Amino acid sequence: MATKHNGNRKQARALIAAAARARQRAVAPYSKFKVGAALLTKAGQIITGANVESASYGLTCCAERVALFSALTSGKRDFAAVAVVAEVEGGAMPCGACRQLLAEYAPRARVWVADSRALDAIKEFSVSQLLPAAFAEVPRDSD
Ligand code: THU
Repeated sequence: MATKHNGNRKQARALIAAAARARQRAVAPYSKFKVGAALLTKAGQIITGANVESASYGLTCCAERVALFSALTSGKRDFAAVAVVAEVEGGAMPCGACRQLLAEYAPRARVWVADSRALDAIKEFSVSQLLPAAFAEVPRDSD
């Protein structure tokens, strides 16, 4: 792994492989940029997603959020890691919107990213590294 890891290399490889498989199901007719994501729950389940684009471009949903929404709406809450794969030099970094959702729903997850052409070169981040000082709570109405 390119950055530090703590004996979970096998888990990271397996989750990256799941994200790479999910990537093949991306629906990206406009950008042609396929992204796959896989979430690992603390109980060891894997939930995957891929990006889905719309002719109304702004409606596109990233792979990470497709995976996260699928996991959340099937009752999963505790996430140990998320993997993201796309054909991009150095690995597929989650966009800002996905970082926000990860900060809210998977704050302690490890984030593993890889280039689809080099699945063994996995970089690891924490969610707080990717989105420091995140907004995480809707303030209560003081009225
Ligand atoms: N995309 C993702 O799936 N995840 C990201 O973190 C960044 C971008 C997708 C959205 C769109 O379908 C394509 O990549 C190009 O932006």
